[in-house]
Amino acid sequence: MHLSRRGLLYGSAGVAAVSLAGCGAGEEPAKLTGYTGIAMPTTTSTRWVVEGADLEERLKGYGYKTILEYGEDDIPTQVEQIQSMIDKNVEFLIVGAIGNTSLGEVLSKAKNKGITVISYDRLILETPDVDYYASFDNYQVGVLQAKHIIAKLGIEENSTQTFNVELFSGSLDDNNSQYFFLGGLDTLESYIYQGSIVIPSGQTEQEPTATERWDRKIARERMTALLDEFYKDEPLHAVLSPYDGISRGVVEALVEADYEPGSDDFPVVTGQDAEPLSLKAIKNGTGQSETVFKDTRLLAEVAAKMVKSIVDGSSPEVNDLGTYDNGFKFVPSYLLSPVDVTAENYEQEVVDSGYVTEEAIDDATPDEG
Ligand code: GAL
Repeated sequence: MHLSRRGLLYGSAGVAAVSLAGCGAGEEPAKLTGYTGIAMPTTTSTRWVVEGADLEERLKGYGYKTILEYGEDDIPTQVEQIQSMIDKNVEFLIVGAIGNTSLGEVLSKAKNKGITVISYDRLILETPDVDYYASFDNYQVGVLQAKHIIAKLGIEENSTQTFNVELFSGSLDDNNSQYFFLGGLDTLESYIYQGSIVIPSGQTEQEPTATERWDRKIARERMTALLDEFYKDEPLHAVLSPYDGISRGVVEALVEADYEPGSDDFPVVTGQDAEPLSLKAIKNGTGQSETVFKDTRLLAEVAAKMVKSIVDGSSPEVNDLGTYDNGFKFVPSYLLSPVDVTAENYEQEVVDSGYVTEEAIDDATPDEG
């Protein structure tokens, strides 16, 4: 046990600590409960399920207690869950937001109680009451996806060949979506100008390409509509997809339209999150050919260590102070690097590193509905 800079005690003996980060005039210090509230967005995607458990384990390892809740993609539910965590006097909140601008009110209540708020993976906007941001280089995610398309199709600078590509983006109310999209579009831009990449639908903005709540079925519907309208007599060569769930919806629509997975004219489809079912398609050549792996173990470690640092009386480590403006301030951030994963390196990156087992990939069951 040692005395922290903030003059409070913390130790493995279970003595509760308090965070005063950002605790200003009129704010009560958080009560000494030793609790961290973890508000995750949804259980429909494997990553958040794994991360919730991982965060709990790490925090418990530091002698902290946790309350973990999933908002199931419903904003009012997440607001209620956070409110109830505040009522239970948590000292920290780790929040994977559902709606990026929907938490201002509840977080101001958290701030009034001196609770430290860590925005987890997705930046919470339009509130001064976010203390830290733990995430990945989200722009780079889009860059990797677009580079995969260019490499896989073998598009050369100034090529006279034309490739038809369609773009998908994520949920409009998730701040990450614009970064993924921008990284992808910036990387494809010179090919689009020069004419080797064409987007027959003309949908090149975030809004028409968006996929509400990252929903696979919504992506499937949009892909079907695009195929019906623009690809009756034209081949589709690639789809820039920001997330594995969306990618699988896109692939379902392609299969329904008689594109044959594994054949030479099956479009290149990208993804993100290294979900087992998507890794299975990448491994077997039966759908998307890429995913961007964000090692969420490292992200959970960063967020848990932020808590520990504050408890220990020091400032959390950050590596970016000038990228993520949430409308009130540049939120001090720790950003990790995403990794491009294909059939060539999935084993090394996600299996050998212990992120997912080969069995989990092989046994992954198809999406329902
Ligand atoms: C984003 C996240 C992605 C993906 C997506 C859908 O915010 O950064 O990795 O998980 O949500 O859940």
